[in-house]
Amino acid sequence: MSTSAGYELPWVEKYRPRYLRDVVGNAATIERLQAIEEHGNCPHLLVSGMPGIGKTTSVHCLAHALLGDAYKEAVLELNASDDRGIDVVRNKIKAFAQKKVSLPPGRHKIIVLDEADSMTPGAQQALRRTMEIYAQTTRFCFACNQSNKIIEPIQSRCAILRFGRVSDEELLRRLVEICEAEKVQYSDEGLAAIVFTSEGDMRQAVNNLQSTWMGLGFVSPDHVFTVCDQPHPLVVRELLERCQAGDVDAALDKLEHLWSLGYASLDIITTLFRVVRTMDTLPEARQLEYIREIGWTHMRTLEGVATFLQLSALVARLAKCSMDPRCFAT
Ligand SMILES: Nc1ncnc2c1ncn2[C@@H]1O[C@H](COP(=O)(O)OP(=O)(O)OP(=O)(O)O)[C@@H](O)[C@H]1O
Ligand SMILES: [Mg+2]
Repeated sequence: MSTSAGYELPWVEKYRPRYLRDVVGNAATIERLQAIEEHGNCPHLLVSGMPGIGKTTSVHCLAHALLGDAYKEAVLELNASDDRGIDVVRNKIKAFAQKKVSLPPGRHKIIVLDEADSMTPGAQQALRRTMEIYAQTTRFCFACNQSNKIIEPIQSRCAILRFGRVSDEELLRRLVEICEAEKVQYSDEGLAAIVFTSEGDMRQAVNNLQSTWMGLGFVSPDHVFTVCDQPHPLVVRELLERCQAGDVDAALDKLEHLWSLGYASLDIITTLFRVVRTMDTLPEARQLEYIREIGWTHMRTLEGVATFLQLSALVARLAKCSMDPRCFAT
């Protein structure tokens, strides 16, 4: 293992892209950012999307590219770990916006408000006029998971960029690159398992890769599911195949096995959904029926009824569904 340096950075930091061209996935959005980089005139930006897909990274890459050596002086980053109440907006942000900094020609200071969806509406309101008054010299970049938590007036001042989940192929390609750089021993199925567990979240994928390699030494599916502590999709698949065959007893045995391993209802339900989605042996009509049943159970579980009985009922309904002539269509 490559721990000879004594202390090793988490791989998510070690392999954080430095340039926009290194950011994986979301090609259209990255192209827009690259156009801004070339042009030099950065509008106010609002970047939104699920966690771990490169929002913060891209905003910083852009700021580095625009400001070069002036980055340290000319970028103010405030994230959810900083106090960002109304006072800070009034004092710290205004003071920064008024500060004189020598910049490359045609460039602006940048205020990065990361995780902006956790700012209170009051603090967001206080930014409205500030953004306009200092627009000559200062541009704002907001990054958030849910853009609906950003008040409308701010959305309307910004160019909105949406990041989607990173596709499985792109995740895989990145993981292979990291494996080669770190001399990780892996099997293709092991990497596929990491892609499966991380659901388009690059940070999760890289973290899972590092935990598996550091913890168990070889990246195989069994090791990945042990480290990530998720129900093994093969067991879940067998359960579904039993349901498909209408063999409710065997299906319940599998369920009992999963339950005895201590998985929470939600873990089992989400894995069921993900496996059904990828099961090509199911006729489409039945696949849809299964997803609907799993969805209902998911909802009841979230409402608080997360019992074994609830899951057993789901399994019984899935098995019953295979008897339904409507689901025989292929
Ligand atoms: N598109 C990507 N290409 C390459 N690496 C990525 C990408 N997205 C995420 N990563 C990896 O994940 C880490 C975290 O990414 P980042 O901080 O940009 O996530 P984020 O989208 O801001 O998430 P959050 O919403 O949780 O703030 C990076 O350090 C990098 O290693
Ligand atoms: Mg972030």
